[in-house]
Amino acid sequence: MWPCGHIYLRDTGFDMLDKERMPVHVAIIMDGNGRWAKERGLPRLAGHNAGMKAMKKIVDHSDKLGIKYLTVYAFSTENWKRSIAEVSGIFKLLVTYVNSDLKELVENNVRVRVLGDYSALPKDAVKSLERTLRDTHDNTGLQFNIALNYGGRDEIRRAVVAIGERIAEGTLSPEDITDEVIARELYTGSLHADVPDPELIIRTSGELRLSNFLLWQSAYSELVFPDVLWPDFTPEEYEKAIADYQSRDRRFGGR
Ligand code: FPP
Repeated sequence: MWPCGHIYLRDTGFDMLDKERMPVHVAIIMDGNGRWAKERGLPRLAGHNAGMKAMKKIVDHSDKLGIKYLTVYAFSTENWKRSIAEVSGIFKLLVTYVNSDLKELVENNVRVRVLGDYSALPKDAVKSLERTLRDTHDNTGLQFNIALNYGGRDEIRRAVVAIGERIAEGTLSPEDITDEVIARELYTGSLHADVPDPELIIRTSGELRLSNFLLWQSAYSELVFPDVLWPDFTPEEYEKAIADYQSRDRRFGGR
């Protein structure tokens, strides 16, 4: 382990990154599980299972790289349109993941948080999530945000409703609505998961869309689209995506 500014980059086996310019928050759209399975003549759930294994390695590697926040898009508000078998299979995987990995997450000082209204998930998934949130609550290492039943428009709509309620009860004036007032009401906001905007958003599988992910928070994110399906996204691919981010000139609308 060696110091590099405020980040401690542990031995990762790869050496292409500028340790001084690591992103604080990386968000990932884990796309391509279905195609990965189809290419192998396997059921879609086998793809999600392989996707879960890839996700575990990326959580572990984020911690090694000293990334402070990792957010993954695990289930969107639109994913309910998939077959019942696929939807319930994804939630079963979530329960399996939590049951097998909670101890390790706690030991590795990872704090898990959820973005999205997870109360709509099956009861056993809600129970597993609540145990995870509770058992990792005091951890101070990597914050691992799982976006579940998450949609960017739904998130903004909920913030608008909350702000409207404050106006109706007389505790907020319309002219006092700033970007910060809106941001704190989002799932990522200080009232909820308290996450800074992601500097880097990665979407695997070659699709070039945000698909309702972090619409407000992505205003100045750098987008990287590795041409590999999610189950094939290795720590090395991850470092390549971060190196791509580090090669960008970020101007935030200035010159
Ligand atoms: C997108 O691939 C992936 C998903 C909608 C599910 C993501 C789930 C996991 C990675 C595993 C489970 C982990 C948790 C935490 C629940 P796709 O199915 O849209 O792939 P396709 O575009 O190739 O069909």
